[in-house]
Amino acid sequence: MTALASFVRKGGSRAAQLSEYLMLNALIEARSCERFKLLSKEVADADLRSFYYELMISEAGHYVNFIQLARKVYDAERVEKRWKEWLAFEAEVIAGLTVRGDRMH
Ligand SMILES: [Fe+2]
Repeated sequence: MTALASFVRKGGSRAAQLSEYLMLNALIEARSCERFKLLSKEVADADLRSFYYELMISEAGHYVNFIQLARKVYDAERVEKRWKEWLAFEAEVIAGLTVRGDRMH
């Protein structure tokens, strides 16, 4: 079983489970937003920079949608607490990765 599969909570109410997957998606969207932000600033081609900028905006919207949905379908305070756990889990995973120049993540 992967670390992610072990981390995702599978028990609890249907709303709790849904909020778990909404937070997972929020995290994916937030990181996609950050990657596109970097690309929108660093790529030499102006058209590509503009394209990546638009993608960054789109991904930011997706992040907001997912995290707001999680707060809406489940207890907002529990979502905030669990969101912090998600971020700590992500940080732990990232700390264990080998930095490679041929990939962004
Ligand atoms: Fe997205």
